[in-house]
Amino acid sequence: MNAKIKSAFLAPDGFQDQLLKELDGVLSCHGRLILTDRHPRKSPFWAQNSWQNPSLIPIQSISDAAKKLKALQRNWSLYSCQLHRRAQLIQEQLPHVSFNPLGFPASLPGSPLGSWTLLDRDTLLAASDCSSAFPNGEVHFLEDKINPPNRAYLKLWEALTLIQEYPCRGQFCMDVGSSPGGWSWVLARLGAEVLSVDRSLLDERVAKMQGVHFQKGDAFSLKPGELPESRENIDWLFSDLACYPEKLFDWVMMWVESGLCDNFICTLKFQGDGDYFMAQKFADIPNSRVLHLYNNKHELTWMKLKTWESSPVQS
Ligand SMILES: C[S@@+](CC[C@H](N)C(=O)[O-])C[C@H]1O[C@@H](n2cnc3c(N)ncnc32)[C@H](O)[C@@H]1O
Repeated sequence: MNAKIKSAFLAPDGFQDQLLKELDGVLSCHGRLILTDRHPRKSPFWAQNSWQNPSLIPIQSISDAAKKLKALQRNWSLYSCQLHRRAQLIQEQLPHVSFNPLGFPASLPGSPLGSWTLLDRDTLLAASDCSSAFPNGEVHFLEDKINPPNRAYLKLWEALTLIQEYPCRGQFCMDVGSSPGGWSWVLARLGAEVLSVDRSLLDERVAKMQGVHFQKGDAFSLKPGELPESRENIDWLFSDLACYPEKLFDWVMMWVESGLCDNFICTLKFQGDGDYFMAQKFADIPNSRVLHLYNNKHELTWMKLKTWESSPVQS
């Protein structure tokens, strides 16, 4: 079986079942790491990190393991699912890689980061080419525990950090399903104008921020061509609406087809185990991507950017 390992995928904590449903050719599971005998056509939605070129490396000792990893590249992060002490001793012999929590905004780590794990005492599995620049796909931020009204801002921070594009002064954003206001807080702090829409009120401090205009009501009643504040188009549409993905899809497609909005970041919230037919429908919208953010729970994030029209994304 070992010779057949072609790729490995790390599931987010608690979402192994979702990832397993997406994968063909599963060979074995090691904690949250799932090994397969094929290269999938597209990145799985529920993978927190994809190991693209895993190889099995026999090792004779801790220092032999470290030597073999260092011969492949400098930076490695350990996914430890067993033999924790031995794995830790190997990791300690590798060059130190500093991964302090990020401030916001922050640039992405510049150097490639490989991932490895111990499959048994004498064998490690290592991949120098991984989809995430962060150890095990975990994007940690220096949290602001005072100003935002909830922790939802972390998923928007993560999404914007991954795409390295930020709404800015002079841009107009619509943030639907915005209450109590974590996302509107992020957008106003970046200097953008935000039309913030929810059936529930915003946190008072967010409502008073410069650039935030709150409208109470049903987001689905907002139609292209009826933009408020004499706006002709929208730079960014954000949705964290608690709603069925089907309903969001129909509404969002109206905006996509109108051509009035450049960029979209929307959370797709799933009930129970659901099937992910809708995730694929979103992913099939041109120039877009669906992924599970580290700061997402039982939800995926769909993003579509104007800049991806000239450099198509790999979904
Ligand atoms: C997860 S919360 C949003 C959290 C928000 N993004 C933040 O950062 O604070 C989901 C919101 O969707 C709102 N919502 C659900 N359906 C809605 C609709 N049809 N129109 C407007 N708001 C809606 C709910 O009132 C709720 O406040």
